[in-house]
Amino acid sequence: MSDPVRLYGSGFHDDPAALYRTMRDEHGPVVPVLLEADVPAWLVIGYRELHHVLSTPDVFARSPRRWNAWDRVPDDWPLLPVLAPLPNLLSAEGAEHRRRATAVNDALHGADPYELRTVTTRLADRLIDGFCTDSAADLRTQYAQRLPSLLLCWMYGLDDEKGEAITTDMSTVFDAGPESVAAHGRIAAEFTRLVADRRAAPGPDVVSRMIAHPADYTDGDLVAELVAILGGAHQTTAEWIGNALRLMLTDDRFAASLSGARSSVREALVEVLWEDSPSQMNAGRFAAHDVELGGRVVRKGDLLVLGFAAANRDPWLRAGEGGAVAGRAASGHGANHAHLSFSHGEHGCPYAARGLAETMAVTAVEVLLDRLPDLELAIPAEEVRWRPSPWIRGVTALPVTFTPSTPQGVI
Ligand code: HEM
Repeated sequence: MSDPVRLYGSGFHDDPAALYRTMRDEHGPVVPVLLEADVPAWLVIGYRELHHVLSTPDVFARSPRRWNAWDRVPDDWPLLPVLAPLPNLLSAEGAEHRRRATAVNDALHGADPYELRTVTTRLADRLIDGFCTDSAADLRTQYAQRLPSLLLCWMYGLDDEKGEAITTDMSTVFDAGPESVAAHGRIAAEFTRLVADRRAAPGPDVVSRMIAHPADYTDGDLVAELVAILGGAHQTTAEWIGNALRLMLTDDRFAASLSGARSSVREALVEVLWEDSPSQMNAGRFAAHDVELGGRVVRKGDLLVLGFAAANRDPWLRAGEGGAVAGRAASGHGANHAHLSFSHGEHGCPYAARGLAETMAVTAVEVLLDRLPDLELAIPAEEVRWRPSPWIRGVTALPVTFTPSTPQGVI
């Protein structure tokens, strides 16, 4: 039996597909892995096995309180922010989770799709106004990383100035540097004020809808939920936009779309969900009792890391025999949504959130191509670097050049 695979250090950013291939050859669909500080876990990379895990929450449960390895975790463990149990829907199970997930889904669904598209366009135009008079920009930091959080803040009912401040703090939190705890504190303080304001004077926004929901949130729980929703949206959607722009700027198949063929914007976005999904892995699920999975004996309390990107590349999906989910290779990516990039099952990305993410991503790319039609990558394609994270896939920067233009004066 091969040694466990270290899920930290170098290797993931350059060619995760090759790493997943090696893991599959050496270990099969369920891989023994070591997280930072050599804390053990299982990485589920088989499509069928991952689908089973996500569909069986009674056995593969969500709450980190079930974990049997807490005694091995150092106080300064870098994965604590993703594994520590929090009072939000991410850690909740059963009826408590259904109560929260219904409220979140209903509150997000309550937004008018036409208005969302209009506001996303306005925010995208405003970001482009910030750099269109120059002839160069970094589309990651100046555009893709800002738009999702700005839209969520608008949906929460915050004004643009507060939205900008929260968006900057959100990026600081995700950079996980020394400033991140203070930035998290400022976000929570702003949302605490917001909840108090909306209790006193409700408006047509997500926060007011959640306050009014029969889920009956306390103020503290609601603040934690608002942070979780914004956290779910911010980096995943930003990397989705960034990775799609990278694909369109580097791959000849999408060259026509840069001069206006809109159909391929959606194709690029779907292709990214298969090939360079923002959600590479997620921690995870915890075995409720001893159980067999993919030929392994998983013990009660073991952590299972969800290998979404690896499962999307499972050769079984391409096999075309009986099992193949939807003939991915034969049909191209097209409208094939069998990938697991939004996860699946009761803890999967809420349907209202997926729709919202798609509105943001499509609008972000289309508005950019309309405004800067001669956009070009400023460096050779092979010099675009991936961030060194096994969890989230995104580029470190996306430097582009274009012909300067006049701002539209969007406020
Ligand atoms: C507006 C944008 C988004 C919002 C508001 C959002 C929100 C959320 C929330 C609240 C959850 C927790 C669901 C639960 O535990 O019940 C979640 C889960 C998830 N989201 Fe999203 N999300 C967004 C975009 C995305 C994007 C673009 C991706 C990736 C392509 C993504 C991937 C995921 C995954 C993989 C999970 C599930 C993790 C698991 O199964 O444990 N999300 N999202």
